[in-house]
Amino acid sequence: MTAAVRIGVVTVSDRASRGEYEDRGGPAVVEYVDRVLVTPHEAEIHVVADETDLISETLVHLADAAGCCLVITTGGTGPAPRDVTPEATEAVCERMLPGFGEAMRTESLRFVPTAILSRQTAGTRGGCLIVNLPGSPKAIAECLDAVFAAVPYCIDLVGGPFLETDPDHIKAFRPKSSGATS
Ligand code: MTE
Repeated sequence: MTAAVRIGVVTVSDRASRGEYEDRGGPAVVEYVDRVLVTPHEAEIHVVADETDLISETLVHLADAAGCCLVITTGGTGPAPRDVTPEATEAVCERMLPGFGEAMRTESLRFVPTAILSRQTAGTRGGCLIVNLPGSPKAIAECLDAVFAAVPYCIDLVGGPFLETDPDHIKAFRPKSSGATS
């Protein structure tokens, strides 16, 4: 039996990490991935404070030890002093993929003018793609809808597993020249 692919989900929030409010972002990310990804998968969820080292350590754990091919963070992308998720992401990625942030901000501006306040980015570490999302639960689908079609091919390119999506939600795009069968 083939093992399920592993997806990491990281909510970055001081208050959620202290239990002062319920984490709604992490479950919203899991709900999105469950809806869109048909490849058998399992999520590993973490809730961490807005601390650069803690966030970076969690990303390294998920990419290296837990073997995740995709890690999605939510929160900590804005301009406030405690917002450090993009820095923590850049610190552990070998390659940055600025197009993800550009596409998500462009799409998000259709919903909120404050979308330009997010410094959300993405990058790769080994065979893992790390994508930042803002903390607002409603931002999760708004942002992932803008980029998820490119996620499976990105993971192909870094040597991760072949991911398939439900075309009723997101049609994964792979160039014909890639030789992929779907
Ligand atoms: N993007 C979308 N799609 N929807 C949103 O509600 N909120 C914005 C922005 N991007 C938002 C969004 C706001 S108000 C902020 S401050 C920034 O994301 C950063 O949010 P974060 O610090 O919670 O990551």
